[in-house]
This record gives sequence, structure tokens and C-alpha cells, in this order.
Amino acid sequence: MIEQLEKLVHTFGPTGQEQAVAELIRTEIAPFVDEIRQDPLGNLIAVKKGKPGGKKIMLAAHMDEIGLVVSHIDENGFCRVRPVGYVLTATLVGSRVRFANGTIGVFGAEDEDKALWKPTGKLPAWDKWYLDVGAENKAAAPVQVGDMAAFYPFFHQQGNRLIAQSMDDRSGCAVLLAVAKQLSAPANDVYFVFTVQEEIGTKGAVAATYDVHPDMGIAVDVTFSADTPKAAPMAVVLGQGAAIKVMDGGMIAHYGLRQALVETAEAAGIPYQMEVLPGGTTDARSIQLSREGVPAGAISIPSRYMHSKAEMVDLRDMIACANLLTRFVTESA
Ligand code: CO
Ligand code: ZN
Repeated sequence: MIEQLEKLVHTFGPTGQEQAVAELIRTEIAPFVDEIRQDPLGNLIAVKKGKPGGKKIMLAAHMDEIGLVVSHIDENGFCRVRPVGYVLTATLVGSRVRFANGTIGVFGAEDEDKALWKPTGKLPAWDKWYLDVGAENKAAAPVQVGDMAAFYPFFHQQGNRLIAQSMDDRSGCAVLLAVAKQLSAPANDVYFVFTVQEEIGTKGAVAATYDVHPDMGIAVDVTFSADTPKAAPMAVVLGQGAAIKVMDGGMIAHYGLRQALVETAEAAGIPYQMEVLPGGTTDARSIQLSREGVPAGAISIPSRYMHSKAEMVDLRDMIACANLLTRFVTESA
């Protein structure tokens, strides 16, 4: 799983440009599923057939990562950018981003002395930040207006902790791949759906769920953990297991489904915790409201520093998520 995750986080895939991630996942999952297709939006749908009479269960993880798009290049070659998804400005100074063509950019802020060295307590607004791509003038800029970037990729393992710029949601993609590899003769048809454009409002999942028309759906995504100094209270801790979603800023998980997940975890002795997330949401929100409505829930991977350039998750939680999902789709009806 670690090797797979490392490949995933190194692959370029800001929202709207997920194709390289889709190609990697297609290659990795192909030996373990019965069919694979990609829909017109770019969602990758891989199907593992179950036994006759089983249900159609959709598992979703999003391929996109938060990013930036160049909106203007000035005469001196400095680029202005807009965030694609919710990028935390607090993490920007000195951060590196990477474009599809390999160009590296470094963030700086206007009036750096006042904005950063003698801070007033206020972070510069988006239009005060610029991206330095090393160009001496506009004509020499190696990128164009409209080009997209993502935070510079890296991967570290320290004990059970895993750190990378795009654990949201490549850790979820790695969990789905692990489930696909572990599955043998599931009772249900399992649809592994790797979605696009989650970070700008869970959009890919809308179209994919309509297409799949599942009997139930489970999103796998990161959530906050509340175990850092003075974190807002929440009952989710890194390393304590799969977080079974109760509610977030966009949905209430289907009660029967979340109880079934709890029962599965209990029966199998898989560590789990209950997640009540005050804000934010996942693809499960879109799954839930598809067509006539779909019982939907989510299994979350606790994470620290979400939407920063260095997100941290715990390997044991990822394993718990994979084992819980595997057991659930293998047995449940
Ligand atoms: Co996110
Ligand atoms: Zn996410």
C-alpha cells in the first residue's frame, strides 16, 4: 500500500486535470477487476463482479488534489494565480508548486517585509501573492495564463506516519486499490469509482453515481483529527482506526449503513472511531442525492494539516479502512 501511495502522490492531478492519476490507477487496478471504463467527465469506474443476487456497492475516492491556475503574468514574469479548491494561504510563502510541463514555481508575497516579516496578524489576500517561475520577463515565462499547478510532490514515512502534499485524497485512492487487491469472490458487485473535481464541490461523483446507479455508496476521504495542540474538540485521533462518518458539513450518513459498518468493524475486530465533522464534506454528499436517493456513508482517514502542502496520515488507519471496506463488500447484503 505504501509503494502505491508513494506513486499516487507523485502523480500530477489538480482538479480538472486528473488524467495522469486515472492512467496510473487504471494500470494498477486492471489485474484485479472485471471491467474498467472512464466516463465523459474523467471519472474512472472499475467493476469487480460479485455473486448473483448481490447488491451494487459504489466505493468512491477522488483523484484530484487542490491546485492553482495562472490568471495573469506581468512584464517581469511574475504570475498571479487563483486557488483551485480551498488552498490555505497560511502555508504559501516559500512553497513550491509544479506545473504539468515540469516548471517549478515559488510563492512570494507583495510587500514581503510588511506582509511576512513584520506581520500585522492578517495574511495577504490572494491578489497579493505571486508565483515566481524564475522568468526574467513575461516573454521568458515557461507557463501561460490558464496553466494549472499543484503543490510540489514528496513522500515521507516516519514510523506509522505518512506525509505528503496530497494525502487528500490519494490516501483514499490507495485504500480503494488495496481493497481491490484483497477482494476475492465478494457477495456484491463492487464499483471502484475514482472521481474527478471533488475539491470544487464533489462534482465528478454526481455524474459517476448517476451512471453506476448503486444500491449504496461509500466515499473514502480524509477527515480532520483533533489530537494536535489545542485542536477544536472532535473524537478523531490519528492512528486509532477507520473513522466511520456520522455527519459532516454536507450530509448525514445513512443510519442503517453506518450501523452496518460499525457492526462489521466490531465483528472483525477492526479499529474504528465515529466521525462528526463540523465542516467540509465528501463525495458521499453527491452520491446520496443521486437519482431517487442512494443510502450513502463515508469511511474517513484521519489527517493533520489538511489542504496544506504537507498532510499527515497514519498507515494503521489506512489499513483499518481497507480491511473494513473489504469485509463489508465481501459479506454484506
Ligand atoms: Co480536500
Ligand atoms: Zn478530499
